[in-house]
Amino acid sequence: MSLIEELNELLLQAGADIRQSVSEEDLDNRKNNYIGKKGRLTGVLKQLSSLSIEEKQTIGKRANEIRNELEEIVAAQRNSLKDDFYNNTLKNEFFDALRPEKPQLSGSLHPITKIQYEIEDIFQSMGFSLMDGPEVETDENNFAALNFTEDHPARDMQDTFYVDGGYLLRTHTSAIQARALRDLKPPFKIIAPGRVFRYEEVDASHEHTFYQIEGMVVGENISAANLIYTMNVLLKEIFKRDVVTRLRPGYFPFVEPGFELDFECMVCQGKGCPVCKQSGWVEILPCGLVHPNVLKNAGLDPKKWSGFAFGLGLDRLVMMRYGINDIRHIHSGNLRFLNQF
Ligand code: FA5
Repeated sequence: MSLIEELNELLLQAGADIRQSVSEEDLDNRKNNYIGKKGRLTGVLKQLSSLSIEEKQTIGKRANEIRNELEEIVAAQRNSLKDDFYNNTLKNEFFDALRPEKPQLSGSLHPITKIQYEIEDIFQSMGFSLMDGPEVETDENNFAALNFTEDHPARDMQDTFYVDGGYLLRTHTSAIQARALRDLKPPFKIIAPGRVFRYEEVDASHEHTFYQIEGMVVGENISAANLIYTMNVLLKEIFKRDVVTRLRPGYFPFVEPGFELDFECMVCQGKGCPVCKQSGWVEILPCGLVHPNVLKNAGLDPKKWSGFAFGLGLDRLVMMRYGINDIRHIHSGNLRFLNQF
């Protein structure tokens, strides 16, 4: 059989074979048997080298024509397989155009995130910048730079989880104070929200993981009057109504004088409940004037610079706003709880 005859025979066989394919994968395999790298047509073409120039031209031309014809047969078969697939699917599957749509469940912001964003807006409108810090901190930033010496008893008030390599889970967003004092040039006004961790006995008002917003202002001639004014603006903006508060002395090694700003408990209206430990008051806003040692630790001269700082507990604020009687609901992930907000 001459090579031309061989080629014509191949076209007939290949065409019939390709049209038999039952899936796209099967089609590709059959196609490769003829026009793939190791296919039969390629095999025939390899024999061309031993032929004369005229023969090479005639046979080469015919081989190309056959390749094109086979490509067309493959494309037609592919379309026909696709049509079969859609026709069979439509025949076998039932589509009910009148069936009511499944309700779309959309998520929403967690109440802590909502209140955090609101507070950020309030402070940004007063010219504060937003600052961030890591949850795994150094002892230096969390304690030492804030005037907690190594054996300071106040460290016990914020016992924490220690991590290998001398790191710890930050116990308060005040760690960001140390970063701000080191990294920013005074005067500055920052707030810094974040998650904090404590080795805590969990009850209705204490979690081991909770949220705070730190605030810090450093400049010249900053006084307790500036602090109290800023706290009043904050409370008025958050609650959009008069809130009964009291200011009492509070101790934190990094402020002097230090204060505790308490709310009348909004869950029980001051009558006493598990949230306020029956006292009628909820401790929410510790604050004070930046201790001179903290300024000195950051290389700032306390005779020139002064400041105030505060640390707002967001979980308890959310509890007050929505009358939630147990902090453990807040991070429970319980949708029946979260769907209310
Ligand atoms: C501090 O964490 C200080 N860093 C705050 C501060 C900042 C003082 C700047 C002075 C200047 P304290 O441990 O009291 O302080 O916590 C601050 C607030 O976090 C509390 O008022 C409370 O609202 C909240 N908080 C504290 N412990 C818990 C807890 N276990 N669960 C939920 N909220 C808590």
